[in-house]
Amino acid sequence: MDRFVVRPSGPLSGTVRVSGAKNSVLKLMAATLLAEGDFTLRNVGHIADVEIMCDLLVSMGVDVKRDGEALAIHRGSDLVPEAPYELVEQMRASVVVMGPLLGRCGRARVSMPGGDNFGVRSIDYHLRGLELMGAEFTVDHGFIDARADRLLGTRIMLEFPSHTATDTLLMAAVLAKGTTVIDNAAREPEVADLAAFLNRMGARVSGAGSSTIEIEGVDELRPVEHTVIPDRIEAATWVAAVGVAGGEVMIEGARPDHMDMIVQKMGDMGVRVAPSSQGLWASCSTRLRSTDVATLPYPGIATDYKPLVVAMLALADGVAIVTENIFRDNRFAYVAELRRMGADIRTEGHHAVVRGVERLQAARVKAHDLRAGVALCIAALAADGETSVDGAGHVDRGYDNFAGKLRSLGGDIERDRSGD
Ligand code: EPU
Repeated sequence: MDRFVVRPSGPLSGTVRVSGAKNSVLKLMAATLLAEGDFTLRNVGHIADVEIMCDLLVSMGVDVKRDGEALAIHRGSDLVPEAPYELVEQMRASVVVMGPLLGRCGRARVSMPGGDNFGVRSIDYHLRGLELMGAEFTVDHGFIDARADRLLGTRIMLEFPSHTATDTLLMAAVLAKGTTVIDNAAREPEVADLAAFLNRMGARVSGAGSSTIEIEGVDELRPVEHTVIPDRIEAATWVAAVGVAGGEVMIEGARPDHMDMIVQKMGDMGVRVAPSSQGLWASCSTRLRSTDVATLPYPGIATDYKPLVVAMLALADGVAIVTENIFRDNRFAYVAELRRMGADIRTEGHHAVVRGVERLQAARVKAHDLRAGVALCIAALAADGETSVDGAGHVDRGYDNFAGKLRSLGGDIERDRSGD
């Protein structure tokens, strides 16, 4: 049994510090494959996905050491350009090593990712873009074998602004011959962070953070030090916690400029949120109000915020329609768990109709993924009785000390590992 036990709490108060963004640091770690020497990454939270990426780098011959919130990465001259099944199976994002491996070694052997809790997630945009740059692929025994003598710059139009496909192509293009243009690129702040890291290494990337990224290939890159941007999804978690439990908190290190749309949406729901010199201040003293929400690629509302928003709407005054536009197959699994807590939510395809109730009821529920686990714990702050959220391990993938941080704000939450 590995679960969170949560009791009704609030109003919350105090200061919480946001860790480095999971979806940035994983790509920065992959990018260290592009140059020999010693890198330092700072503001790296203690999260399980980072551990998996460390294992992946080590399996390829890279030396990785942790020192508090920093990672010292030594990439020597020999690399084994392979991402094994055991690691890709644990973390789908492992596939982003394909771009830097192809760019640097001319070869990458990467286990094909299988299905996950979001349904079937393809990597066809990654492969098509690399193919346009001259890579050739064979698939054998569940592995993708990619080869290219030297990738060639070209124009790539993404069918959808996929976040990791943009990362893969960006990392592949920095050492390519000539200029690559990625059109309809993902605009996430984590993509801009990766581009800033690559530029510091000597790459020539412009336009990252907009829909068109231009990369002029260079022959060599050098190792650097870099501080990872804060995790905007974690920051929004603490805003959602205040929305559900009431109170006033300071979210230290948060970047409000990365969170415009979610801050506006949570404001529409009645949480007062304001930028401050320390990060983001959030306060709520009334019942939340319903508002419709649709997920969209950045700068729209990220799909990763959605379980938090649905937990808030479950308690809000009124009816809201929530539409999932990114992962249409299966990103409402947690709704059945919220219903077990007395939430009034109906789903139809990629829509959910949420009728807010005044209080939820404690129940035994199960998290099927990281974002769902966090949202269920936040909902439990306003549930009468003791809620047990099974599957706590999912939360470790992206949150450094989630329960400890929530407890520091006054949340009544414990981690129960008995029987583990
Ligand atoms: N897609 C394809 N083909 C591709 C790539 C994507 O069809 O080759 C589709 C996906 O199936 C999905 C849509 O395009 O329907 C968007 O997917 P995207 O590629 O943008 O997602 P991702 O890059 O795989 C990242 C984050 C996710 C986050 C999404 C959306 C990382 C490691 N993961 O995934 O984060 O939900 O972008 O913003 O960066 C999480 O942190 O819990 C998480 C799942």
